[in-house]
Amino acid sequence: MKIMVVGGGGREHAIIKKLKENKEIEEVFALPGNGGISADATCVNIGAKDIPAIVKFAVETKIDFAVVAPDDPLVLGAVDALEKEGILCFGPKANAAIIEGSKVFSKNLMKKYNIPTAQYEVFENMQEALSYLETAPIPTVVKADGLALGKGVIIAMTREEAKDAVRSMMENKIFGESGSRVVIEEFLEGPEVSVLSFTDGNVVVPMISSMDHKRALDNDEGLNTGGMGTVAPNPYYTKEIAEECMKTIFLPTIKAMKEEGREFRGCLYFGLMLTKNGPKVIEYNCRFGDPETQVVLPLLESDLYTVMKATSEGKLSETEVKFSENSACCVIVASKGYPVKYESGFEMVLPETDENSEIFVAGAKLSNGKLLSAGGRVLGVTAVAENLKKAVSKAYELAEEVEFENGFFRKDIGQKALKILEV
Ligand code: AMP
Ligand code: GLY
Repeated sequence: MKIMVVGGGGREHAIIKKLKENKEIEEVFALPGNGGISADATCVNIGAKDIPAIVKFAVETKIDFAVVAPDDPLVLGAVDALEKEGILCFGPKANAAIIEGSKVFSKNLMKKYNIPTAQYEVFENMQEALSYLETAPIPTVVKADGLALGKGVIIAMTREEAKDAVRSMMENKIFGESGSRVVIEEFLEGPEVSVLSFTDGNVVVPMISSMDHKRALDNDEGLNTGGMGTVAPNPYYTKEIAEECMKTIFLPTIKAMKEEGREFRGCLYFGLMLTKNGPKVIEYNCRFGDPETQVVLPLLESDLYTVMKATSEGKLSETEVKFSENSACCVIVASKGYPVKYESGFEMVLPETDENSEIFVAGAKLSNGKLLSAGGRVLGVTAVAENLKKAVSKAYELAEEVEFENGFFRKDIGQKALKILEV
């Protein structure tokens, strides 16, 4: 069997490694993959957004199953295009991927179906947004409607900051057309939890919960990033909260999408905030999170290919999805200067891993047999252990052994979670 994974980051590396545990899979292609992924898959130099080239490759190579991992190709309709050629895919069609592709869509969906989220207003006209901000409660949150590489959310602590955010999105178009509409929403407070789920449009099966660490520096200081590390499970997410989320958020979302004629099949990511008024949705993603996947999939005991195929065929209720009782920690090693300005091309030497550890490669190229850094987030050093404390210390031991002169990592991944566990 031949499998194709669209994408080329640490998340895709984690997906590929997990898929390969199924011995029926003979070959995995990564489009485009990266220099580290090439140890586990055949990398093909086709960009993740080049849908005609992706489809052509899949047809010519007679791919049996495709996984489209990143948001861009999903929103652009990669799954629609592949399925038109008869290729079974894991991932939502464009009309369902819009749940991430347009914040205006997702906010209106939640309002219509009474799914708990922050109060909000939508603006298409900049003057109206600015005059709303004259009296809006502060702090407030300004969000560009469309995809913006994870940077389209600005938490404004003052009225001026909020107005600047609106002007930069609507007038200066720093996110292009993604900012021609903005959502201005209520500022919520509470611990954040990421819950990825498998859903075939009828059944929703949450995966083990996780906690991202979005800021670049220790103690949640510095700029927002794509994520500097993760742990799973997330200790804030108790069994009671999980039950409440299933009732008030997960099932209603799946049903709402179906009722709208936008059945969602694939991985639906719920970004939640546990507020004092109950869990609320901060964001939906139409895909696996990065670096959440790097801690969630190593804890999956079921065969990933079987679960993905059942999801795509609408047969998820017939399949068991089982997670281990262990914990996992992923420490991201990034290039110095990330997320602003950084250099690439530094040689890296990776330590040996064992059956309870992995180094997922997010940004690297191979040159004369040497692994060179290429990108902001470079490695995801991951360890699994019987408890979180051991997983964190093992991930850090391994991260310290990485030889990479231009690399840095946060020293406190998992500390917040460990504190909660001690209480
Ligand atoms: P997003 O790009 O939607 O994941 O948002 C990035 C981060 O902004 C989230 O992980 C939250 O930490 C924060 N955030 C987004 N919306 C809100 C909100 N309404 N209130 C407080 N923080 C928010
Ligand atoms: N780690 C957050 C995301 O994947 O959007």
